Amino acid sequence: MRPLVTLVALASVIGSAAYAETPLERGSYLVNTIMTCGNCHSPKGPPSVVAGKDFSGGLRFDVPGVFDVTAPNITPDKETGIGTWSTADIKKLMLTGVPPDGKPIAVMPTGFYGILLPSDLNAIVAYIQSVKPVSNKVPAPIYHVPIKQEVIPWAEKPIDPAELTDKVKRGFYLATIGHCMECHTPREKGELVLSRMGAGGQQFPGPWGISVSRNITSSKTKGVGAWTDAEIKRAITQGIDKDGNKLNGPMGYAYYAHMTNADLDDVIAWLRTVPAKE
Ligand code: HEC
Ligand code: HEC
Repeated sequence: MRPLVTLVALASVIGSAAYAETPLERGSYLVNTIMTCGNCHSPKGPPSVVAGKDFSGGLRFDVPGVFDVTAPNITPDKETGIGTWSTADIKKLMLTGVPPDGKPIAVMPTGFYGILLPSDLNAIVAYIQSVKPVSNKVPAPIYHVPIKQEVIPWAEKPIDPAELTDKVKRGFYLATIGHCMECHTPREKGELVLSRMGAGGQQFPGPWGISVSRNITSSKTKGVGAWTDAEIKRAITQGIDKDGNKLNGPMGYAYYAHMTNADLDDVIAWLRTVPAKE
């Protein structure tokens, strides 16, 4: 009897050790998977050109008459990155979309980040402050209209950690900080139509032509309601749809590919609860 008990005890120690991440590990995991920061902030191009340039500035978003902004260098480089920002400056930007110069920024989905657990927000900021400084100056933003942060009613305050024992709530939390619905909800006059959450229909021009975000509600005919879990997982992590066709950007498939299976399962469990929209 004795050895068995010891083995079971040991197994549970190993089991919990596998989940004990340091804040930097947690920050790295969130930034490099579900939150896809690099999908916007890292340069795109042939790998030899961009190797070692992670987070040093990336995509340009040019909406004529509205703004022309480039995702800045967020490495700790003091001249061209955010090396002179305080921890509080970065946290404020993450939660309000307002940088130290007081001019609200565009594009970055900060309206979804209010739901972050304080521990996760701290981990993300600590990780970003720990990456290698890279010198790379990106063009300054141009705003033709005043920018205001999107209000996402379900993301205005940190989630209650007690809710995260529930699989669907965990999926909801991850999908919120992953801003899935910022791309997958239609916009009218630039504003998200939240009553049609998940119905898709936004256009994304890019090197791939124009992709249109799809309906990812639980609708069996228009959404992913009739897809298996494995099919949804393949779409998210490999960019291949139910019929085997390749999906285009800007969705960050390669980032989601590094999510844990458990986290992917939770996101899918939540997607299944998103009310069907035709
Ligand atoms: C959808 C694209 C996108 C994603 C995802 C994104 N950002 Fe950004 N971010 C931007 C853009 C674009 C700007 C600048 C907008 C402007 O100048 O108006 C910006 C600005 C910033 C700034 C301010 C830097 C400066 O010099 O003003 C920081 C810090 C930042 N992002 C960090 C992050 C972190 C950390 C993540 C992931 C948790 C993230 N961003 C995710 C697009 C994105
Ligand atoms: C930056 C915008 C963006 C973000 C963020 C995003 N998606 Fe997508 N997604 C798209 C676009 C655009 C397509 C369609 C691409 C195409 O047609 O080639 C797509 C396709 C899909 C598909 C395939 C659906 C079908 O009918 O083929 C699924 C499933 C999906 N996304 C789920 C998600 C989930 C879950 C998240 C969050 C973890 C997410 N997406 C985040 C833009 C985005």
